[in-house]
Amino acid sequence: MTRELPELPTVSAAPNEKATIRFQSDGRELELPIISPTHGPKTVDISRLYRETGYFAHDPGFLSTSSCQSKLTFIDGDRGILLHRGYSIEDLAQDSNYLEVCYLLLNGRLPSRQELAEFENVITRHTMVHEQFKTFFSGYRRDAHPMALMVGTVGALSAFYHDDTDVTDPRARMIATHRIVAKMPTICAMAYKYSVGQPFVYPRNDLDYAANFLHMCFSVPAEPYDVHPIVARAMDRFLILHADHEQNASTATVRIAGSSQANPYACIAAGVACLWGPAHGGANEAALRMLMEIGTKDRIGEYLARAKDKNDPFRLMGFGHRVYKNYDPRARVLRESFHEVLEYLGKQREPLFELAMELERLATEDDYFRERKLFPNVDFYSGITLHALGFPLAMFPALFALGRTIGWISQWKEMIEDENQRIARPRQLYVGAPIHPYVPITER
Ligand code: SDX
Repeated sequence: MTRELPELPTVSAAPNEKATIRFQSDGRELELPIISPTHGPKTVDISRLYRETGYFAHDPGFLSTSSCQSKLTFIDGDRGILLHRGYSIEDLAQDSNYLEVCYLLLNGRLPSRQELAEFENVITRHTMVHEQFKTFFSGYRRDAHPMALMVGTVGALSAFYHDDTDVTDPRARMIATHRIVAKMPTICAMAYKYSVGQPFVYPRNDLDYAANFLHMCFSVPAEPYDVHPIVARAMDRFLILHADHEQNASTATVRIAGSSQANPYACIAAGVACLWGPAHGGANEAALRMLMEIGTKDRIGEYLARAKDKNDPFRLMGFGHRVYKNYDPRARVLRESFHEVLEYLGKQREPLFELAMELERLATEDDYFRERKLFPNVDFYSGITLHALGFPLAMFPALFALGRTIGWISQWKEMIEDENQRIARPRQLYVGAPIHPYVPITER
């Protein structure tokens, strides 16, 4: 089904368009070039600012500053649009699958049938991890958070693959990329199995990516386990919706780690660590814990009031976004999946899910949230969807990391292959003590 594409203007700056900075202190002026994107805001190139004026620009949190040029993903937060290589997330979620989206992000175009079959075959045949890998898990307590397991074991992959850590070698980069995409579901499933005290399950080459992951998570040696197509499709769609998202905190972390020429496994481990935060990828777990804490519909008002109270640090988890000031398009698609899974599992009447829908209704009708354009984001629906699929809360950020792995490694690849690539080294605004002499301990 070809969906009508949303209106999204392309941008064309006048040739040699410039911005002028004028310093009032001495009247000095500096002309700075304006760079035109395909879509989105025009960008003032300030890279010469310090060299030519001795001034830094200051933008903590990068609210107005782009850190790189990229062709991978574009978000229009006001229109609620998300593109991967120019394709809308709605079209990809509807008509594609996760490995095809992986190919698209890595190669810049959709694969032919033959190319997709070859890519799926390569990934499928690299899903096993070294048998020695199991020993990493036994050092952790059984109740360790799965993200603690993921951070440690993903980084440990670099100890097994010395043949592909030369980031300057395109073939080594390709092999490392395939290994990471292929082995993340196996490691993620091992983290889950370890946390529930069940034996690890080997991947099966007769299953597709999402079904194989679910099989490695939920099958047990004692009985057969068949993955239902609706559940596999929901999992695959979950992975697509989490694939990439411009320069979010964890992706920026991967790029900065990679800019030092660290090996790709270490860079992905850094991304996992950053994603764990509740303000970022940990929000799906936090959103579900919040729903469990609210407990009943009659307490929703109390929590909405707390979310609005400036003296209360409580935030409505799963709502709001740094970029989206419209509905997160991923949330809309995942909301559909959520209801499909509920219907298949017969869980529509479960109190927690009814509570979630009532909270969504009340928050989206509330002036505080509407004025601040705080809509449900992808994490609100991913939490309840994963809960419906039977994953424990602590696994939610790990599943986000699984989906985002292709985004991290594609952004890493784009950064490494950028001929202007250099180590990332932000400057700072120093507001500490002025220079002063050492005070001997006898005088303190
Ligand atoms: C992800 O970057 C990405 O792309 C991330 C991500 C990805 O795919 O990688 O999309 C994944 O991280 C999604 C976001 C998940 N986080 C949460 O759901 C946690 C709850 N959300 C908030 O922590 C917050 O909305 C952030 C962190 C997401 C955004 O923070 P900002 O940019 O500081 O929020 P803002 O500037 O838009 O806030 C505007 C106002 C402020 O109030 P005022 O000062 O104007 O009075 O809205 C308030 C904020 O205090 N506000 C909230 C709120 N989020 C913002 N108030 C109550 N509940 C919230 N959730």
